[in-house]
Amino acid sequence: IRVAVVFGGRSPEHGISCVSAGSVLAALDPDEYEVVPVGISRAGQWVLTGSDPAELAISARRLPEVTAESGAAIMLNADPSHSGLMVLDATAGPRALADVDVVFPVLHGAYGEDGSIQGMLEMAGIPYVGANVFASAAAMDKEFTKKLCAAEGIPIGPYVVLRSGMTLTEQDKQRLGLPVFVKPSRAGSSFGITKISDWAELDAAVATARQIDSKVLVEAAVVGREIECGVLEGEAGGVPEASVLAEVRVVGEYDFYDFEAKYIDAESACEYDIPAGLSERVTRQVQEYAVRAFTALDCAGLARADFFVTPELDIYLNEINTMPGFTPSSMFPRMWAASGLEYPKLVNRLIRTALQ
Ligand code: DAL
Ligand code: MG
Repeated sequence: IRVAVVFGGRSPEHGISCVSAGSVLAALDPDEYEVVPVGISRAGQWVLTGSDPAELAISARRLPEVTAESGAAIMLNADPSHSGLMVLDATAGPRALADVDVVFPVLHGAYGEDGSIQGMLEMAGIPYVGANVFASAAAMDKEFTKKLCAAEGIPIGPYVVLRSGMTLTEQDKQRLGLPVFVKPSRAGSSFGITKISDWAELDAAVATARQIDSKVLVEAAVVGREIECGVLEGEAGGVPEASVLAEVRVVGEYDFYDFEAKYIDAESACEYDIPAGLSERVTRQVQEYAVRAFTALDCAGLARADFFVTPELDIYLNEINTMPGFTPSSMFPRMWAASGLEYPKLVNRLIRTALQ
């Protein structure tokens, strides 16, 4: 099977996508897959790169990066007589991206996880791993994730949407209470998020979030444990399946599960329990909500649903990621490994479901 692994990309999560791709590339069995590694630079140039996973690791606290010099350029419609969307190897004669059997877009954030590349692949008629255009767009935007999931009866914490030019009213502030999280509506890996405990910090936090997205969410901070659940599309027409749950605890100097704690200092800043130490009843309920959220958004392939569980055992959905991180510190592959699906089997299954 020829599989194009696409990574990097134009979003702020570029480097995380590279690290995720490194893990995916390492898990693809060379006897089974012919890998076509495709990097996208921050500026949006597509290049055929090498496929050495070692080059896609975090080293000396620095994230890897795809640049225009990382490999041979890939052109869009370089040969108009060719039906393919994208020429993969112009020197050896045109070979279209459509010549691959399947694309694995290991891309996080804008242009990768938001339906953009999914639309391009739909246009080209190429099967791909993961959510379709609608589900990708809906899950990328935290406002619509909340609205669609709330409509299906999944509990959501209090929040306010601030579109361009809007700010909180006194009534909003009273309803939310402090502290709150101020987030770009469409972002990932905690980019642009500030936790504030004083309304005097609101304007600066909104400005920080607006550097990434003009639409900002202000969410009441739910006091509770951070619990994550992996979901996989059912095989052969079966229903979606939930993984065992994971709990993430941020320890030491970090105030919340932010970018540095998640990736750069993951070893010392975070403790993980997989499976999470929750009762069977709460575990089942979280898994049921995770599958319901997957279905509410019409997801396909895979997703990771993130929750808070309060001391009173109330459960709130935080968000859904349609291309969750695959880095060595990421929860999605680790939760599936703990559920009996080791990394190479997980990747096989994702590719198989994309082709079914
Ligand atoms: N957005 C990051 C990659 C995650 O959810 O894991
Ligand atoms: Mg996320």
